[in-house]
Amino acid sequence: MAKATKTFVCQNCGAVTTRWQGRCDSCGEWNTIIEEVGRSEVLPKGVSGGKGGRKIEFVDLKGAVENVPRRMTGIGELDRVCGGGLVAGSAILVGGDPGIGKSTVLLQAMGALAKSGAACVYITGEEAVDQVRLRAARLGMRDAPVQLAAASNVRDIVASLDAGAPPDVVVIDSIQTMFADSVESAPGTVTQVRTSAHELIRVAKRRGFVLFLVGHVTKEGTLAGPRVLEHMVDTTLYFEGDRGHQFRILRAVKNRFGATDEIGVFAMTDTGLAEVANPSALFLAERRGNVSGSCVFAGLEGSRPVLVEIQALVAPSVLGTPRRASVGWDSGRLNMIIAVLETRCGIALSAHDIYLNVAGGLRISEPAADLAVATALVSSLTGQPVPADAAVFGEIGLSGEVRAVSQRDLRLKEAAKLGFRQAWVPRQAGKAGADPGTRDGLAVKGIGHVQDVVSQFAEATAKPRATAGQKS
Ligand code: TYD
Ligand code: MG
Repeated sequence: MAKATKTFVCQNCGAVTTRWQGRCDSCGEWNTIIEEVGRSEVLPKGVSGGKGGRKIEFVDLKGAVENVPRRMTGIGELDRVCGGGLVAGSAILVGGDPGIGKSTVLLQAMGALAKSGAACVYITGEEAVDQVRLRAARLGMRDAPVQLAAASNVRDIVASLDAGAPPDVVVIDSIQTMFADSVESAPGTVTQVRTSAHELIRVAKRRGFVLFLVGHVTKEGTLAGPRVLEHMVDTTLYFEGDRGHQFRILRAVKNRFGATDEIGVFAMTDTGLAEVANPSALFLAERRGNVSGSCVFAGLEGSRPVLVEIQALVAPSVLGTPRRASVGWDSGRLNMIIAVLETRCGIALSAHDIYLNVAGGLRISEPAADLAVATALVSSLTGQPVPADAAVFGEIGLSGEVRAVSQRDLRLKEAAKLGFRQAWVPRQAGKAGADPGTRDGLAVKGIGHVQDVVSQFAEATAKPRATAGQKS
């Protein structure tokens, strides 16, 4: 007989120890270690204690593969993020901060799907049935034939989903409230979340319905239960945005049935989430021309180009250590660009407070925004506006060189479409005649070094350096 072994698993970080401890060595949390019983090894037949196993069939890679049929939710942005519709039998995790709109978007999707004839089930462990009904009324979908239930016991839910004809789509809101009675820990702990999700995903695969799991994000920004769920599901979507802003972005971070980094843009209105088909126009809607410190970045979100305004404020500091604050952009990256501007272009910024903001509440993670950030900073420092019809992109290296970025043409096309007349982009080395030039009515200016941008604001920056040079 293989020996049943006791292991102790931290419910916070998943670390395994051989004995109980009050405090987890690996993450430092108290009272998170719980005993789990399991068999130590799987032994082959013939070895003492080995039970053996069934032999599995191996096949080769070629073979008839059916094109997976996809079910459209009727919410275009959601369909695109899912890779072009929902795949039967797949599990989709929708993560996000509390109150961001996860329940709203899923209820809207269920309503639209149900109206198109799909059998939809919405199971909530967080709200009472009446609360969901009120929300449905507000969303104008009272008549949608969605099957609604307030339940949290996984055994009951699995039994119900197993009985009768299988549904087409099931929403579990949220996985942290689900409770599997086969394990002893409380709802929301790693073991519970993992077991509940496992049971629900199994029934989804067995009966071939699409399963949406709602997952709350912890303070640190990970899905509660250290990303244990991300491995188990086919698709992970994050719903992000700032509660102070109207815009919500649904982002695919993992997708077995489509591209990741795809985004869907929504606006929260008093009748639910509305799709935003042209995000660039929306992010630039409140831009005013001729203000220093504002620069339009031609970015890329997934397969889609998105133009956003980057705003910088550079002001003399009264503090010993000047302030550096960045919203919507990595602050480490901001410090790097400040260092490059100081060292490679001789711009003194060490006595200035610097604030950076990506307008509209979008979060940018592309290094391609470097050049736009640098441009906004120099513009704010000199007080000279960036030309209102210029769109900028390019990555900056540590020596100040401007590096090429992906999807140059796509970015240029979007800028041209939105009426921009010039683009400041990385110089294309080796492509004679490519820069400078005109494309789609855009004057394309190739930038080889950040200094090329700085010298466009030359008068104000060059003077102090010239006088400094004369003195020495
Ligand atoms: P909700 O979907 O409950 O968030 P989550 O499930 O992610 O916790 O969203 C709740 C927020 O959305 C709440 O602050 C109110 C707002 N809201 C609207 O502005 N308009 C609406 O039509 C609805 C239904 C919600
Ligand atoms: Mg909710």
